[in-house]
Amino acid sequence: MARRRTTLAYALIVLLLLAGAWLLVRQNGWEAHAREWLNLLVRWAHVVIGIAWIGTSFYFIFLENSLNRTKDLREELAGNLWAVHGGGFYYVEKYKVAPEKLPEKLHWFKWEAYLTWITGVALLAIVYYANANLYLIDPAVRDISPSLAVAIGIGVLALAWIVYDRLCRSPLLENGALFALTGLLLTCGAAFLLTQVFSGRAAYIHVGALLGTLMAGNVFFVIIPSQKALVKAAEEGAPLDPKLGQHAGLRSLHNNYLTLPVIFVMISNHFPMTYGHGWNWAILAGLFLASVGIRHYLNLREKGRSAAWLLPVATLAILALAYVTAPPAKEAEAAAGATERVAFQEVASIIEQRCTTCHAAAPSDETFTSAPAGVMFDTPEQIAAQAERIMERAVITQTMPLGNKTNITPQERELLGRWITQGAKLE
Ligand code: HEC
Repeated sequence: MARRRTTLAYALIVLLLLAGAWLLVRQNGWEAHAREWLNLLVRWAHVVIGIAWIGTSFYFIFLENSLNRTKDLREELAGNLWAVHGGGFYYVEKYKVAPEKLPEKLHWFKWEAYLTWITGVALLAIVYYANANLYLIDPAVRDISPSLAVAIGIGVLALAWIVYDRLCRSPLLENGALFALTGLLLTCGAAFLLTQVFSGRAAYIHVGALLGTLMAGNVFFVIIPSQKALVKAAEEGAPLDPKLGQHAGLRSLHNNYLTLPVIFVMISNHFPMTYGHGWNWAILAGLFLASVGIRHYLNLREKGRSAAWLLPVATLAILALAYVTAPPAKEAEAAAGATERVAFQEVASIIEQRCTTCHAAAPSDETFTSAPAGVMFDTPEQIAAQAERIMERAVITQTMPLGNKTNITPQERELLGRWITQGAKLE
């Protein structure tokens, strides 16, 4: 009780501090700066909590896969396992259903999942929904209104859960391979449709948010309720339904297979060669498949079965994706280089008009108060030094200017590209 009161008192202090900060922000016109800090803090929390969640997912699936299920087991046990970690020896026992008498203190694992989802959705709102014109919408893909785009984003997450949950309650669930195939096809379909309405980057993050929603939904709607039912039955001495535990276990296994693809999507915004490619949805599908293959290999290995062939197959798939996303080969570049020379003056004026509102020591853009990614184009030397990245972002993947906020034209992109293939000279 006393502990709860202290916590409440400190929570009040935190709220007062935040209110003070908010007043300061309003008076000084620091909204954009404050949003950046909010982004940082929520992202930090999301990553830390997400690591804790995925860590427990890996740990418990590892336990499940590695239990001793045969040697010297008491009748009520499904298996046991010895481990050493951090200088201590640990011994874990798994019950077939539940122990005869429940222990007083039982650890649950749910807040990692809930908070990862909550911080993730908050981040989606802070980055993509609050700046829909910059991050969510790409006029070259589809020129929709911000409110429609946000509605589609949220709608997709809800719809995905409904469809997945229905599938899990159908006979399809019994057939692991067919279920996986259906899941893959549906994910590809969602990725394809999302890339037809959102910027590539936002389409990717929504596929990630969709998979993350299925994972958190599994915990909230299925796994935790099943566990509660098991605990209740055990307390009342009622007969336990082993199906409850088995179904929850399957959902937990689905989550385990989704971990690698979800983590790729979460870091994908650093890799415009994936989301900025014309076939971005197919590239996502390829990486999804390869990473699920690797997860499958790891799971089989933990069970003492080998499917090492999965490793070269996944490697080949990833190499093929790297090949498909490669920039034009050297000969094509040389041919372009032989065409009419582009003067640096032309390039400088394009960059000045289309890029330096954001990429400058003191940006004039209302959203960015410091140079994004630290990239500045204030001097000719700075521009030349970034030539390769300008090629990647503004010419090949066309993921800059962000949301094409400064309305760069295809001719201007072509000029930038030609100047770079001609050696990015300052003359
Ligand atoms: C509306 C603001 C805005 C404009 C205009 C803009 N950028 Fe960016 N740029 C960003 C943001 C935000 C990032 C960091 C996020 C990212 O990498 O997608 C970034 C990152 C970059 C990076 C560093 C990341 C990397 O991949 O190396 C380069 C290079 C870049 N932009 C080039 C350009 C060029 C060239 C133009 C003009 C043709 C341009 N940008 C116009 C906002 C902008």
